[in-house]
Amino acid sequence: MKKLLLFSFTFIGFASQAQTWSDDVASIFYAKCAQCHHAGGISTTPLTTYSEVNPITTAIASYVTNDKMPPWPPNNSYQQYSHNRALSSTDKTTILNWITNGAPEGNAANTPPLPVFPTGSLLGPGDLEVQIPKYMSKAQVGADDYVCFSVPTGLASGKKIKSVEVIPGNRAIVHHALIFLDPNGSEVTDTIGGNCSSPSNQNTKLIAGYTPGSSPLTLPCNDPLKLGISMPAGSHIYFNMHYPAGSFGEYDSTKVIFHFYPDNETGIREVFASDLIQNWNFTLPANQVTTVSGQYGPTTSEFSLLSVFPHQHLLGKTMKSFGVTAAHDTLPFIELPQWDFHWQDFYFFKHIIHLPTGTTLKGIGTYDNTTNNLDNPHNPPITVYPGLNTTDEMFIFYYHYMVYQTGDENYDMEALMNAGLKDIPLNKESIISVAPNPFNESTSISFPSKNGDHLTVYIYDTQGNVINKLCSNSVVNSDKVTINWDGTSTEGTSVHKGLYFVSINLNGALYTQRIIRN
Ligand code: HEC
Repeated sequence: MKKLLLFSFTFIGFASQAQTWSDDVASIFYAKCAQCHHAGGISTTPLTTYSEVNPITTAIASYVTNDKMPPWPPNNSYQQYSHNRALSSTDKTTILNWITNGAPEGNAANTPPLPVFPTGSLLGPGDLEVQIPKYMSKAQVGADDYVCFSVPTGLASGKKIKSVEVIPGNRAIVHHALIFLDPNGSEVTDTIGGNCSSPSNQNTKLIAGYTPGSSPLTLPCNDPLKLGISMPAGSHIYFNMHYPAGSFGEYDSTKVIFHFYPDNETGIREVFASDLIQNWNFTLPANQVTTVSGQYGPTTSEFSLLSVFPHQHLLGKTMKSFGVTAAHDTLPFIELPQWDFHWQDFYFFKHIIHLPTGTTLKGIGTYDNTTNNLDNPHNPPITVYPGLNTTDEMFIFYYHYMVYQTGDENYDMEALMNAGLKDIPLNKESIISVAPNPFNESTSISFPSKNGDHLTVYIYDTQGNVINKLCSNSVVNSDKVTINWDGTSTEGTSVHKGLYFVSINLNGALYTQRIIRN
């Protein structure tokens, strides 16, 4: 009897420690998977509930083990970026152990309320909207559609951009959108052939991009760091759109929303967007892996580097960029161990990189023009040269940079960029009211309830990361709930300025509201 008792105790002890969907795993999926894997997101496989995830845990284990999901090409041990999407090693272990142990659900009542997935704009109406005409994807099964649109801004005077938000017209089919600023209106719309993927003019600069799960570009816009990109009068916006294979017959009309500084704003530092490294003089022989390199510099004054955007086409295999100073120090910018044409983005450094005078920027890329490369558009492979079509190749690194000022490298860029996310409107339909909102010290969250209601209240950031659990599966004993949030995280640290969401689960019904910290 004694033995049996001991056994059952041990068993209970083990069961309560094993990871469950509701207590341990759901919040990781919300933060790292759900922004693409939710109804209406880019993936057709939603992964927001236990019943959606449970049947495909074998596939999930394989994607997670091989770092195929979440898609995050850069090597994070080479350089640190804002809005990092990769799973931490702890989260990875939690998911894999949970699957190995049979992926138990646990107590469903403990499942955290779903975070908010923006369907429209995060930043709200801006100062200028530029939209492509309604376009029907021509991407049959097995062939992607790459098209380009040139749209005039109609700007009568020059402006300074502080944020850029790309709103896909159809989230299910916009795989990437690259936004170029064409100051002279020299690009042309090209929707014939489905093969357009680059501007043809050197003055046309890549300023922003959209891939599923990426954040809008919000430059730091408050003292002591106000950054802006100049948009001259008469500029055109040149869109490079990518619609994935199988999306034939679906319509899209993507738009980009610009927010400008007021015309009389002072103290704005100019950010340059430029493809500093490029190489147009290489040959990729069939059935070979070829290395291509390029460089820029040495620089004749000091610069601050904010971001990097590597670019190849379908034969790309790896990309790497770094700086070498006059003193022979190496400054790591980016390393993509496995180039993926489908997940291109600007990577903003967590901390600005100071380029001393005399720094040379270097880039190296490898290209796999063999049949081992499943993306190779030619079978059998043929010799490929640089060019603008998707089936040609490219070797380019775009950067955002500015003139250096002492202390630039100490800014927390992720926090300053998130602080720009604060113009979004309240969710008027929600039963939740938040006051004050925006808040600084503390805010109070209230909503109607009934005696005996089960309640969970979480605070999320815009990426779906849990910031704080204000209340977990408690029973309500009044007809109104009021909970204060003092702007701290679960770890007790004060959160950055910017946009957050409160999500509540009240007896199984989900509600949400936005909260802004000033
Ligand atoms: C940035 C967007 C994004 C994120 C984040 C993301 N995925 Fe995906 N995932 C995709 C896309 C796109 C596909 C392929 C197309 C599709 O499924 O419709 C995909 C495919 C998959 C597949 C194959 C499914 C199938 O139907 O073939 C699995 C499994 C998967 N993802 C798991 C995950 C997991 C687990 C996470 C989080 C740890 C995650 N993904 C995060 C975009 C994303």
